[in-house]
Amino acid sequence: MNPPANFDRLARVYEWLEASTFGPLLMHARCTFLGDLRPCRLALVLGDGDGRFTTRLLAANPAIQINAVDASPAMLRALERNAGPNAARVRTYAADARTWQPPHADYDLVVTNFFLDCLTTEEVAGLATRLRTCVTPDAQWIISEFSLPPGPFGGLIARPLVAALYLAFGLLTGLRVRWLPDHRHALAAAGFTLAREQRLLRGLLVSELWILVPPSNPTGQASKRLL
Ligand SMILES: C[S@@+](CC[C@H](N)C(=O)[O-])C[C@H]1O[C@@H](n2cnc3c(N)ncnc32)[C@H](O)[C@@H]1O
Repeated sequence: MNPPANFDRLARVYEWLEASTFGPLLMHARCTFLGDLRPCRLALVLGDGDGRFTTRLLAANPAIQINAVDASPAMLRALERNAGPNAARVRTYAADARTWQPPHADYDLVVTNFFLDCLTTEEVAGLATRLRTCVTPDAQWIISEFSLPPGPFGGLIARPLVAALYLAFGLLTGLRVRWLPDHRHALAAAGFTLAREQRLLRGLLVSELWILVPPSNPTGQASKRLL
């Protein structure tokens, strides 16, 4: 297993880098399903970075407790600063999420925003299989990611852009992964099913809400309640 990418030196400029390239769009993608997360009580946020989504989640849901995992201690310090007075409801873990063992078995929310793209498809599959055993039956998994839409926009714009992002993050953080994992296949194989999705920027960005496949519904079709 390769060492995790080192985002420490990006921690203080990460928000600025994002704002100067994608403006508010990544934040919009992260928060697509925020309004659906009010009933959640115990969240696991993996690769949480500087915690801007976590800060919004804490504000939107005053009852939620959050376990935040990131390999970068500097990112976790930024997260604690950003969480402000709500930081007491966040427990941070400086760890490699690929091998970290969650301390709870009843998470009702998992969040991976722009994190799965730091992993290979095999690593996402291993993670999803492990998480399957520590979530509640009604758990939701929120994912934001870059994606390659079909058609000329995908081939001519999205593909070179994603390749350039990988090149830049490879140079800046030592990230060894060079292409987007097939996270959909990995999550489905672990027993999760896609309930809702929203695409932005003509499909370059995708926000997804996954749930566990209901036992009464072995075909893997998402329930009508969520669709
Ligand atoms: C592209 S940033 C995304 C951060 C944040 N989720 C967001 O939406 O901006 C990826 C984050 O994942 C963390 N990371 C990368 N590989 C990791 C791993 N194997 N275990 C834990 N964290 C990791 C990095 O330190 C970084 O904070």
